[in-house]
Amino acid sequence: MSLALGVNIDHIATLRQARRAGFPDPLSYAFLALACGADYIVVHLRKDRRHIQEEDLARLCKKLRKHIHLECSYTPQMQEAVLKYKPYSVCIVPELPGEVTTTGGLKFTPAVQKRVGEMVEALHKKGILVSLFVSPEASDIRAAAKLGADIVELCTRDYSEAANKKQAQKLLQDLALSTLLAKELGLKVHAGHGLDYENVLAVADIGGMECMNIGFSIINRSLEVGFPSAVAEMKELM
Ligand code: PXP
Repeated sequence: MSLALGVNIDHIATLRQARRAGFPDPLSYAFLALACGADYIVVHLRKDRRHIQEEDLARLCKKLRKHIHLECSYTPQMQEAVLKYKPYSVCIVPELPGEVTTTGGLKFTPAVQKRVGEMVEALHKKGILVSLFVSPEASDIRAAAKLGADIVELCTRDYSEAANKKQAQKLLQDLALSTLLAKELGLKVHAGHGLDYENVLAVADIGGMECMNIGFSIINRSLEVGFPSAVAEMKELM
């Protein structure tokens, strides 16, 4: 089975928002990414709208619905936006005030389980696939399965920030074991956060891994080689 690449284009919008200009347009880069080997386009609609705007999501879903994978928190307001624009799939992530980027997987407290469970049900009623962003820990994967998720996206942040090879190896093993458990529970498995042109290889090698969602390193690489090559290089590596 081939490994899918989700290209996160949030930072195309970050650049546009820096000047509140009409460009660069995330929709144009979504088309370009798909033409260069991306399978999905990932965007995170944040509460503070620091990059992707609701209008971007509306246009992306109108033109490219079956490729749009939306990341968002589990608030009722976000649920409303999801149901309005109906992306192909949604990854529910925690969102903390003031964070620079997503800091980790969902913490399944009873209140979070209740709210996420309600959101999973509402999205399923509209035929939207639901992914939950989780730490590579057995208890969290079991919680995601219990809540009815279709997919778990394993958080690779700790792996990508490992202090040394030995630590990276141990964290990689956690990712592999988590993938195995998720598959046993009937879940599809994605991974993402902090993946780049070097550390992606070992994650791509994990049996059962189906999709990797990557943003920052691709946008950074595109400054050097151009966006089409940056996307194509990543797809090729995987
Ligand atoms: N997956 C999730 C759930 C994320 O929150 C992010 C960051 O927006 C990514 C993947 C992509 O991470 P990066 O930009 O570090 O590649």
